[in-house]
Amino acid sequence: MKATVIAHSKFTISEIDPRLYGSFIEHLGRAVYTGIYEPDHPTADCDGMRQDVIDLVKELQVPIVRYPGGNFVSAYNWEDGIGPREERPVRLDLAWHTSESNQVGIHEFADWCETVGTEMMLAVNLGSRGLDEARNFLEYVNHEGGSTWSDKRRANGREAPFDVRLWCLGNEMDGPWQIGHKTADEYGRLAHETAKAMRAFDSRLELVVCGSSNAHMPTYPQWEATVLEHTYNEVDHISLHMYFENRAKDTASYLARSLELDTYIGTVAGVIAYVKSKKRSKKDVYISFDEWNVWYHSKERDKAILEGHNGWPEAPPLLEDDYNFEDVLQVGCILNTFINRADVVKIACLAQLVNVIAPIMTVPGGPAWRQTIFYPYYYASVYGRGTALKLMVDSPSYTVEDIGTVPYLDVSAVHDATSGHVTFFLVNRHLSEALDLDVGLLEFGALSIVEDQVIAHSDLGITNTAETPDNVVPVKGEGALFADGRLTAPIAPLSYRMIRLKA
Ligand code: AHR
Repeated sequence: MKATVIAHSKFTISEIDPRLYGSFIEHLGRAVYTGIYEPDHPTADCDGMRQDVIDLVKELQVPIVRYPGGNFVSAYNWEDGIGPREERPVRLDLAWHTSESNQVGIHEFADWCETVGTEMMLAVNLGSRGLDEARNFLEYVNHEGGSTWSDKRRANGREAPFDVRLWCLGNEMDGPWQIGHKTADEYGRLAHETAKAMRAFDSRLELVVCGSSNAHMPTYPQWEATVLEHTYNEVDHISLHMYFENRAKDTASYLARSLELDTYIGTVAGVIAYVKSKKRSKKDVYISFDEWNVWYHSKERDKAILEGHNGWPEAPPLLEDDYNFEDVLQVGCILNTFINRADVVKIACLAQLVNVIAPIMTVPGGPAWRQTIFYPYYYASVYGRGTALKLMVDSPSYTVEDIGTVPYLDVSAVHDATSGHVTFFLVNRHLSEALDLDVGLLEFGALSIVEDQVIAHSDLGITNTAETPDNVVPVKGEGALFADGRLTAPIAPLSYRMIRLKA
């Protein structure tokens, strides 16, 4: 089977905002405690942060990390996490039915972000709280000094402001599960007034308003229209979330779900355009896809804790999905979708980063290791910087009920004109047949292949574990050639591949 692609250096989608490769740390399960923070761990630094985890996060070059939730933020008092550790209260976290010790708060998280070289994306609580706490939190975090909250920050050991530019106005406020769930009108009004107050402090902040928790919510997409009608001129991004699952064990249909993601993005882009036009607005609003991942492997296991049958444990192993090889293909297709929609999606956060539905896992007191999905995320984040190319693609396809025609070849490409690199990210969805890939590269000059990595395995269900962390790892690709402006390569069935060329 043959798949033909044409790329031209001048036919582009958009510059990629590096924040397309963001991630997320929530006070949930073991993301923070025994995830990034474990003071007794042999690798712990002087702040109690695990150095082995820091090294893996650095490897991923994560540009932003959203914090502190998620559902957690909707009943969180940010003040509980400041001041001397021994005086911080233990609180019941109503979102995940656990106990929160508050040993990590904004100071510790900010220091960790500086260490790993990432920016913070902070969420304010618009569930149980509102405008007043949001503006106080902002003053604490971003004001230089000379006011009550900024002087408290300085007294707590941080002289310079944290200077956080990107703020989420709550989390999943359309979800009945959310503490302080609201109707679109209630939330839209609150988000508008909160945004106004935050902008009165600093007009240059970037603000993210909540869109839908997923495309199956009964309020979707009217939610987006109503919320944007309230907030369009005050915000910069609208947040979307989507999680993927394969409970039916149907690989062909599972790997087609990225087309649903594409439709979801396209629909919300349409709603943005509608409200922009209705308001006669000159400014643009983009999509912040600030939660996405595969999430289903751990759901049965988590039931007892989430239903409250295990009391209020501290940092239990919640949402610890063991990712398999099949999930590598899914994550590859999702990342391709974001790159191909880089004109409207400026921020995306892999949810989450450590232990909780995460590419990085830890053993308390033991090693940190890479799950299978670490690798497609790594390749996109490290090599997917530059301009997304508008590809012409001709691929054989299959049909999935409720989705339609699904091409076997899933592909995106990124051109870094400064360094001269052109990088292709490819997934072959075919269960048994290879694709003969033929890519015409126009107006890129003479190129040569500088890197070719494949992730493939005969067992779709195989996972990496703490004991066997290298079951699924990338290997050098074979058979790719570049000659006369054409890249050709055999793309194995059910495989992920990254091919990099350089002028
Ligand atoms: O990432 C896990 C949870 O999924 C988040 O807390 C919530 O926002 C979403 O429902």
